[in-house]
Amino acid sequence: MSQARPVPTDLDEWKALAAHQARIRDAHLREMFAADPGRADRFSARVGDVFLDYSKNRIDAETIRLLIALAERSGLRAGIEAMFTGEKINVTEKRAVLHTALRAPRDERILVDGKDVVPGVHEVLDRMAAFSDRVRSGAWKGATGKRIRNVVNVGIGGSDLGPAMAYEALQAFSDRSMRFGFVSNVDATDFVETVRGMDPAETLFIVASKTFTTLETMNNARTAREWLLATLKDESAVRDHFVAVSTNAAEVSKFGIDTDNMFGFWDWVGGRYSYDSSVGLSLMLAIGPDGFRDMLAGFRLVDEHFRTTPLESNLPALLGLVGLWYDDFFGAETVAILPYSQYLARFPAYLQQLDMESDGKSVDREGRPITTYQTGPIVWGQPGTNGQHAYYQLIHQGTKLIPCDFIGFCKPNNELGIHHDLLMANFFAQTEALAFGKTAEEVRAEGVAEAQVPHRTFRGNHPTNTLLVDRELTPNVLGQLVAIYEHKVFTQGWIWNINSFDQWGVELGKVLANRIVPQLQSPTEPALEHDGSTNALIRRYRRIRRGG
Ligand code: F6P
Repeated sequence: MSQARPVPTDLDEWKALAAHQARIRDAHLREMFAADPGRADRFSARVGDVFLDYSKNRIDAETIRLLIALAERSGLRAGIEAMFTGEKINVTEKRAVLHTALRAPRDERILVDGKDVVPGVHEVLDRMAAFSDRVRSGAWKGATGKRIRNVVNVGIGGSDLGPAMAYEALQAFSDRSMRFGFVSNVDATDFVETVRGMDPAETLFIVASKTFTTLETMNNARTAREWLLATLKDESAVRDHFVAVSTNAAEVSKFGIDTDNMFGFWDWVGGRYSYDSSVGLSLMLAIGPDGFRDMLAGFRLVDEHFRTTPLESNLPALLGLVGLWYDDFFGAETVAILPYSQYLARFPAYLQQLDMESDGKSVDREGRPITTYQTGPIVWGQPGTNGQHAYYQLIHQGTKLIPCDFIGFCKPNNELGIHHDLLMANFFAQTEALAFGKTAEEVRAEGVAEAQVPHRTFRGNHPTNTLLVDRELTPNVLGQLVAIYEHKVFTQGWIWNINSFDQWGVELGKVLANRIVPQLQSPTEPALEHDGSTNALIRRYRRIRRGG
């Protein structure tokens, strides 16, 4: 694994794909479907409750064969094994990458530096479960003896997006007598609006931070403590109203949270891969330990599939390969994630961090600048059908190629009139319209005036993946979906030969912000040594903020 890998674009398999792309880039999905009645069957895969139809992509059997050849040549199989067995594939931080251990069964052994990590995973899960049961049953009391009715997770990035997304996704399974809030932004509005109407005596804060040094989280946590103590007065109340989720026990106790009330995780869990660790404590409080374990089982099911299934029918790997096809051979810069489920409203935002922080890299694992190929795409999206009435216009008729993932469910969580069939009719209609479009002849045949014909023509040939879930959204299904995308991101990152598990790109802004804080707060005019633009903006801000 330590040997420098060739630059991907130098590989014969890459070149074969480029030549193949030149041959099929103008082929239309209309023709491809007409020529092959078995296409929908051929280009499909399944894992657990998730069925993937990837036939509405600009691919043929040869494309998949060549993409798999590229994956094999890039050592994807060995890479998967290296991840699952705890090799230190996060090379810049010299860490194992073992979010898959978070859902390993008790009897599995996974060694990191010679130590089995699985018992520790289950010990924390058991402590989380015992704590959740106490809070949910009312046995855990606040400082004044009241039971906890509000839970506020204070965290940001991976310590927020996962639990916030999953809480929203699984509201149907949550204890409705409790209120859950998520404070992430250092903008005071986030805190103020989240705790509005909450009784401090009934509120539990979970301070979630892998490092326990993140500026936004630490500031919000201090504000939370002041808010609590403004009512409860006695410093000892912190013990009953604050718990921490972190890898950094020293900082947790420095903050004033008893490490008995700390739920740990490990440096081999990346922040954006962490909500199935103790970072998901707020979620466990909402859906209960059984629901949480059911979600872990969903993750696990996909992990096993990814690790053992040949690439030809390996759903996350295929999703990754098809995505890479557009990203690198069609020059696509973006991917839209379009869940047809209101409960998955925050899923695209969650995937943004998962994908963009993982694969937004321009240096390879050997430290060489990447100049001949693209890495991670821009990820975005919103739940359907809202997007249809907003930005789908550009997907249908704009000048850009935007591959889309459509995620839908055969069964609704809320059965109400014809809502679900209407939702799903739109779901199916959109991928059909995107793929096949509407020709100028078809428009003319409708009697449309000639001048309008170009405007009303849909060229089609827009690629989509359809992920159709056999059932409704459940904790188990959510686990499956998240694991599918984790492994999709891994597949792509591995072939691009990047480290998907560090995030140095976020550091510079943090350092500069820390420098600027005292400059904004200084009572006297500070000496500024930024560029001309930043100096002038800071001065302007200071003047106006101080009423000048
Ligand atoms: O700045 C980016 C980042 O490090 C993410 O990778 C991480 O999820 C987030 O900040 C929060 O970090 P922490 O959990 O250490 O507060």
